[in-house]
Amino acid sequence: MSIRNAVVPVAGLGTRLLPATKSQPKEMLPVGKKPIVQYVVDELQASGIERLLFVTGRGKSSIEDHFDDDPELVRMLRETGREDLLAELADAQSAVHFLYTRQRQQKGLGDAILCAEHFAGTEPFVVALGDSIIGRRKPSQIVERLVEAFEKHDAVAVIAVEEVPVEHTSLYGIVAPAAIGDVFEIADLIEKPKPADALSNLAIAARYVFAPGIFDAIRRTPFDRRGELQITDAIRLMLNEGGRIIGVRLGPEEKRYDIGNFESYFETFVEFALTDPVYGAGLRARAREILLEHNSD
Ligand code: UTP
Repeated sequence: MSIRNAVVPVAGLGTRLLPATKSQPKEMLPVGKKPIVQYVVDELQASGIERLLFVTGRGKSSIEDHFDDDPELVRMLRETGREDLLAELADAQSAVHFLYTRQRQQKGLGDAILCAEHFAGTEPFVVALGDSIIGRRKPSQIVERLVEAFEKHDAVAVIAVEEVPVEHTSLYGIVAPAAIGDVFEIADLIEKPKPADALSNLAIAARYVFAPGIFDAIRRTPFDRRGELQITDAIRLMLNEGGRIIGVRLGPEEKRYDIGNFESYFETFVEFALTDPVYGAGLRARAREILLEHNSD
């Protein structure tokens, strides 16, 4: 893959998941056996990303610890013959080169991405949100398809999109496609529209590729009513100035699991746990009993 650099913003406050996120990052909450952000890193590594910048904030140091080497733990597991656990830990010590920077105030996703300017330099880069898993069975290849579209269409930004129920448009950035198909030019985009104002039901799905011009666009984007710099608004600025923005649909095996609120976090955890290759069968049997016990609630 021609793009080597990825930015993973993990600095958000996660207020919708309080109290779980009072002293731990939402990106470190487990889904099945791994923290959410580990799925994101596995996906980026499988896509060929070599350098990964986490944009972190206060209270997020457990993310750095998770991806750091832990020689004492490794020695202890080796001495006690726990090769199975050692193999699972190898995932967390991936070949990707990790870098970290801090977003000092949580002023929105656009502001978090702006913190990556020195890291990206003059090269295009991937952005993968640290609180969203794409696909359950295996790491998604969406990033490779985004990069392919970026090169083929001479775009300034490429965005992963997925269909959502119309009543959910106010939770996401929504794009208006200029044509039908799995890869299409975007005619307009808007952050969290009410269903009545939505341009379509195609939601921005946590993965992007940007040309370095995005940094200048973010700097020229006004803060929204909540005091946040929205990346959707910066992309819209590039679009209005003649830049080509491309949308790429997630495939059928690439459902997006957004962990940002309890409803979707609970659903995601349950789906991953119930389909776990080791624990899934037993848990499904127990879940059936629990459902019968609570049938009349
Ligand atoms: P969200 O839009 O879910 O915001 O972030 P949030 O602040 O984390 O959560 P709430 O709304 O308070 O519940 C989407 C992604 O962007 C990152 C988050 O860490 C998450 O991975 N983000 C968001 C930042 O890095 N900085 C920000 O200022 C906002």
